[in-house]
Amino acid sequence: MNEHDSEMLAGMLINLGYWENPVRNQADVILINTCSVRENADKRFFGTLGQLKKEKRNRPELVVGVCGCMMQQQHVVDTLKAKYPWVDLVFGTHNIHEFPLLLENILNERKKLVSVWDDGEEIVEGLPVHRKHPFKAYVNIMYGCNNFCTYCIVPYTRGRERSRNPEEILKEVQKLVADGVKEITLLGQNVNSYKGPKPDRVTFALLIYALNKIDGLERIRFMTSHPKDLSDELIQAYVDCTKLCPHIHLPMQSGSTAILKRMNRKYTKEGYLALVEKLRNAVPDIAITTDIIVGFPGEKEEDFEETLDLVQKAQFDSAFTFLYSIRKGTPAEKYGEQIPEDVKHQRFSRLVEAVNSISVEKNQAHVGRVEEVLVEGQSKTNRNALTGRTGGHKLVNFKGGKDLIGQIVKVRIIDSTTFSLTGSLE
Ligand code: 5AD
Ligand code: SF4
Repeated sequence: MNEHDSEMLAGMLINLGYWENPVRNQADVILINTCSVRENADKRFFGTLGQLKKEKRNRPELVVGVCGCMMQQQHVVDTLKAKYPWVDLVFGTHNIHEFPLLLENILNERKKLVSVWDDGEEIVEGLPVHRKHPFKAYVNIMYGCNNFCTYCIVPYTRGRERSRNPEEILKEVQKLVADGVKEITLLGQNVNSYKGPKPDRVTFALLIYALNKIDGLERIRFMTSHPKDLSDELIQAYVDCTKLCPHIHLPMQSGSTAILKRMNRKYTKEGYLALVEKLRNAVPDIAITTDIIVGFPGEKEEDFEETLDLVQKAQFDSAFTFLYSIRKGTPAEKYGEQIPEDVKHQRFSRLVEAVNSISVEKNQAHVGRVEEVLVEGQSKTNRNALTGRTGGHKLVNFKGGKDLIGQIVKVRIIDSTTFSLTGSLE
């Protein structure tokens, strides 16, 4: 979502006549779009900002702006005011559409501006987007989250759930397809809770059925879905909608039912596993990926072993693994029994090892198969190689000409590693 916000900010700048300059000390405007989900990104933000202080001293006419979900936290804005007074512009996620106006004010009046809206009831449609790829696009379908997982900052920074009108979504996707987009990724903190307006109350699954009918659109993806809301209707959509890619990102967070309860996740270890089985029964080759947090307050060795056990049983294609980090203002901040850093790190290594050994086997199973791959670009390490993604979202490297970028091609898989596949064009 943060990446897509950046695409919109870039779109607004381009509309104003700016262009992207990769050389930082030549830019007239530097804008940092922040993420507050984990501590690392938070630290990196202040590090990057510190580096910019000298730049701003050398070139006072430079405009430095900061935005994104960190700005929705009062303590961050207070720190910026106290310690980084040279920052010109501060705005949040709820008023991202105001950016061109705010920038114009800065340029005209040369006065520092802080404008962060507490809430974003209205959905602003039609913001310009500067997409990274011409053939694939992100499409927001809803904003905010009502789940209040006890470790998570998102409900406080992105506000309550608001769904876009399905007609607006369909119109946007039709326009994207007319522009050459083949693959869309529907975005929302919890896409399963998508609900169109009364009286139809279009569900997330029905939205997918409608998108599946759009001529010229080839692939539909989405993220992220919460296990507690994964409906049978959505599982059926995987069976019926040929454009819906056989991949689901289904964050498990922990394998311990006791920890899941403390996290306020509203499902059990057995419930999660039952969902995995249901998905695989309906779509045998579905790729399942996940997010896992280690070291949540109160996590005992037995709880962690439950996580390892669920990883073994669920057989994820891959997983994003995170060390729990305290987020200010969340319920878990006040929980006792915070886990010592060394214990967290040891568990993290054991988890990564378990996850990776399954990824190796999962990828190995693709060798010999022919996969459809959307070619995304040239490989970063080998200019003669192309890279793309299968329907199951696996990264594939293979030899081919640049002219194939943006096309869906058939590739025979000949080798695999933990994180990618190698193939040859059929
Ligand atoms: N600490 C560690 N990981 C977190 N996530 C969210 N909040 C935290 C936190 N405080 C992880 C969850 C979520 C992913 C986007 O980030 O696994 O699914
Ligand atoms: Fe955060 Fe939970 Fe909402 Fe996901 S579902 S954004 S983890 S509160």
